[in-house]
Amino acid sequence: MLHARVALNPASVVAPVSRRTFGSFVEHMGRCVYTGIYEPGHPLADEDGFRTDVLALARELGVTMVRYPGGNFVSGYRWEDGIGPADQRPRRRDLAWRSIETNQVGIDEFARWAEKADVEIMYAVNLGTRGVQEALDVHEYVNHPEGTHLSEQRRANGAEKPYGIKIWCLGNELDGPWQTGHKTPEEYGLLAAATARALRSAEPDLELVACGSSSSTMPTFGSWESTVLEHAYEVVDYVSCHAYYEEHDGDLGSFLASAVDMDHFVNSIVATADAVGARLKSKKKINLSFDEWNVWYLSRFQNAPLPKEWEVAPRVIEDQYNVADAVVVGSLLISLLRHSDRVTAACQAQLVNVIAPIMTEPGGPAWRQTIFHPFARTAALAKGDVLRLEIQSPVYETARYGEAPVIDAVATHDPATGDVVVFAVNRDQEQQVEFAIDLCAFGADLTVAETWTLTDDDVRACNTRDEPERVTLRALDTVSVADGVATLALPRVSWSAVRLTRA
Ligand code: AHR
Repeated sequence: MLHARVALNPASVVAPVSRRTFGSFVEHMGRCVYTGIYEPGHPLADEDGFRTDVLALARELGVTMVRYPGGNFVSGYRWEDGIGPADQRPRRRDLAWRSIETNQVGIDEFARWAEKADVEIMYAVNLGTRGVQEALDVHEYVNHPEGTHLSEQRRANGAEKPYGIKIWCLGNELDGPWQTGHKTPEEYGLLAAATARALRSAEPDLELVACGSSSSTMPTFGSWESTVLEHAYEVVDYVSCHAYYEEHDGDLGSFLASAVDMDHFVNSIVATADAVGARLKSKKKINLSFDEWNVWYLSRFQNAPLPKEWEVAPRVIEDQYNVADAVVVGSLLISLLRHSDRVTAACQAQLVNVIAPIMTEPGGPAWRQTIFHPFARTAALAKGDVLRLEIQSPVYETARYGEAPVIDAVATHDPATGDVVVFAVNRDQEQQVEFAIDLCAFGADLTVAETWTLTDDDVRACNTRDEPERVTLRALDTVSVADGVATLALPRVSWSAVRLTRA
């Protein structure tokens, strides 16, 4: 049996858990909106056409914030198409996903959905085909209280109170040649800075996110952020990060170590942003908004053409997730939490149907994919402070990321309740690992309150419409506490969480 060890110390704190770590993403793409969150005529639709089964699952998932309305979609979007009488809204081509956008859902409908789901909206403006004026216009519509043309239009459309959206993305992935309106870092940095200054003139305390790199494999990774921040440092609060992981050619070892890349991504962009701050002699720190992350079998999508016909809500990238994918999602959340001092917002992409934890059938049921479970448990259990850990773990060699620890983990401590929660993954493909967690620094007897694990003899097992509970969480019954040390026997290829409480 393999062994790993860590000592926890309540005085060694990274940062408080940011609730915005548990964000998600609703893009007008495929079936995320139409037949995802919104399906009038579905037996479970409410008076606004929202699927109540999906709303219930979104709440269960513990999502706190949702990025909207895109994604690549936003770079060609006219927000005003989605307001006013639904039967007068234009049908438009969406070039990003080669589909027809009916505009039956716009910002007013989405704000109603967000209220029902009890989530904060992170709103992305179009800086692909549009600019400062349109960003100001949508801001006036959603956030200006009353007495102006656009705020009165919102009130006439039924929303008397402004939506008070605080966090805004200044465009999407404009470093990518695939993006409508793709820009050089100079062009984008100047536009982002100008848009940020204008939005701040309207509402000074907005939190603004500049586009960072679409992936750590972009040729401009790092230099893009550096140039953009040279222009926008003092007027933005965040730079965004996007990363998608998949198992390439059956290389499960590398795939399970995806969080090594996420750690590298975060450390590189923190260093880049801090270097710009130092050059500018600024006292301010730029945080990271990891506002697109997930497992996505992107290479399959890149080899498959987009739909030939222009359809409404086509089935696009409806990846079906297995046990290994869920373990990776759990480990990516461990990485995000570990960086809570600088990653203070994050969005799993996406929420429903499109590379999503929640799946639906039109007119039919909704169910939880495997990746739903580690997200939901982490969002429910991570409270208080994130602790700094030095884990002693065996390592293994991966083709993509070099040496990776077999065990990765993060812990939170809630000073209000005394609860300690440890989230851990075992990446070994053959063996269980005994993980010893020294709790002596807490000075109180801690006892096991709840345990969860996601593992399966078949790491390729999935949940489907016909077998929606095939993969689910079970209790980890191999946990014991003695002499201030908790010992967990972590199954091979598993994600686990253990909550300890005062005896
Ligand atoms: O989430 C799917 C797509 O991935 C988004 O539209 C885009 O921003 C990213 O490339």
